[in-house]
Amino acid sequence: MPSLSHPFVSRLVRALRDRHGYKVLVETGTFTGTSTMWAANEFDWVVSIDKMDTHEETARARCTDPSLRCYPLLLRGDSRVALVPVVEALDAIKQPAIFYLDAHDINNLYGGGNDCPVLLELHTIMMADERHAVLIDDAHDFCSPPIPEYPSLAKIVSYVHNGHQLRVAHDLIVIVPDAAIGAVDAFVAERVER
Ligand SMILES: C[S@@+](CC[C@H](N)C(=O)[O-])C[C@H]1O[C@@H](n2cnc3c(N)ncnc32)[C@H](O)[C@@H]1O
Repeated sequence: MPSLSHPFVSRLVRALRDRHGYKVLVETGTFTGTSTMWAANEFDWVVSIDKMDTHEETARARCTDPSLRCYPLLLRGDSRVALVPVVEALDAIKQPAIFYLDAHDINNLYGGGNDCPVLLELHTIMMADERHAVLIDDAHDFCSPPIPEYPSLAKIVSYVHNGHQLRVAHDLIVIVPDAAIGAVDAFVAERVER
């Protein structure tokens, strides 16, 4: 069964979608398409980007399932570059989106060497006219960066502007427009184990 990295992440994405009307999910880091297929069952439009040819081909084969709510648009390329026209297109059609940033790799775990494009991804998203929501997976890796390619959480915080606020919950960095931060805080508070 396709899913995001943790049930908490899937539930938060659904809560943001339902409360704030997001129709589009953009993912960086397709890998073999598991998270992409989850999104394609939950959103009207899904775009996913990966730099590895082999991953994109595997995901493309899986994402032709006719039972999916939408066929995801799979882009091959470095997300530092490939994300720019996606954000421009969302501005052109005035469509805010949820961005799931999962294109980071340590010690070649996913075949891409050591890579972490998150700062440039975030810069592109923050410069947009639309106020997007951003979820960065693997928060623990930014709290204690394991390799120099990974920025610190403090550095990520310094990229957050343009009417957005940041939280960290369940190994996820959550960056949402001011209007959505109350919903995020309430969602997290309801799930605090007592
Ligand atoms: C953690 S995996 C993604 C897992 C996937 N989202 C899932 O939940 O099944 C990271 C992926 O990011 C990709 N990646 C790493 N650096 C990238 C970059 N600069 N641009 C695009 N993709 C990148 C890798 O090829 C790998 O497939």
